Amino acid sequence: MLPDYVLRNRAYWDAQAHDYVRPGERNWADNNPEWGIWGVSEDELHMFPDDIAGMDAIELGCGTAYVSSWMARRGANVVGIDNSEAQLETARRMQKEHGLDFPLLHGNAETVPYPDESFDFAISEYGACLWADPYKWVPEAARLLRPGGRLSFLTNSFLVALCVRDEDGVPATDRLLRPAFGMHRLEFPDDPGVEFHISHGDWIRLFRDCGFEVTDQIDVRPHEDAYSRYPFATLEWARKWPSEEVWKAVKR
Ligand SMILES: C[S@@+](CC[C@H](N)C(=O)[O-])C[C@H]1O[C@@H](n2cnc3c(N)ncnc32)[C@H](O)[C@@H]1O
Repeated sequence: MLPDYVLRNRAYWDAQAHDYVRPGERNWADNNPEWGIWGVSEDELHMFPDDIAGMDAIELGCGTAYVSSWMARRGANVVGIDNSEAQLETARRMQKEHGLDFPLLHGNAETVPYPDESFDFAISEYGACLWADPYKWVPEAARLLRPGGRLSFLTNSFLVALCVRDEDGVPATDRLLRPAFGMHRLEFPDDPGVEFHISHGDWIRLFRDCGFEVTDQIDVRPHEDAYSRYPFATLEWARKWPSEEVWKAVKR
């Protein structure tokens, strides 16, 4: 039985998938990773391990799987899992167009059908790290990784989750709109999707409880000329406060 939020997010992402076709095509066509809504470069964020070639890697919530394509082109043995069949349809079409083949699974990244210690690296860019429950997907990532295996993900900052407006398309201001204490599952009145956000202290305790050691946490700052198609934070806002954050951890 899938949890209610996984079913809701499945319907939500099946309906959103058409908006992710063009960005997915662009990202598949460009093997120069740019991350998050502001397109910050891999040189700055180092989301991938330097020695990714030959690693067994999994993308948790791969969407159109362009991140997986970047890893495959760097020599990793890649698996992508996503909750939306419509997103995976684009991913499969891209695989054919670009002559890349790796397993794409339709499923919930909180319960991945692979044995313990199958992977050296797990990554998520606005995938499971935003749309799945951290108290389920982080232990699952820990189960899937071998000792010494690494986890990297990029998601909305905790701060933006506190300031983001309920109304769709209206940018965050400098007002805190919801309490930090108790923040976990976040739903918006006019939006069927369910997101998850926890405080930095909660992330650190969760990583520790799952056998991870945090190796980095980056508050992402866009460049002065950056552009985002997402209206929830303006460039001016994101230059003052982090709208996105990166976490990196290693399994002990
Ligand atoms: C924003 S996309 C992430 C992919 C890509 N990096 C991007 O930014 O476009 C979010 C993806 O997370 C997937 N997702 C949501 N909940 C999930 C879950 N529990 N397990 C696996 N994938 C999930 C959605 O289906 C969607 O394709």
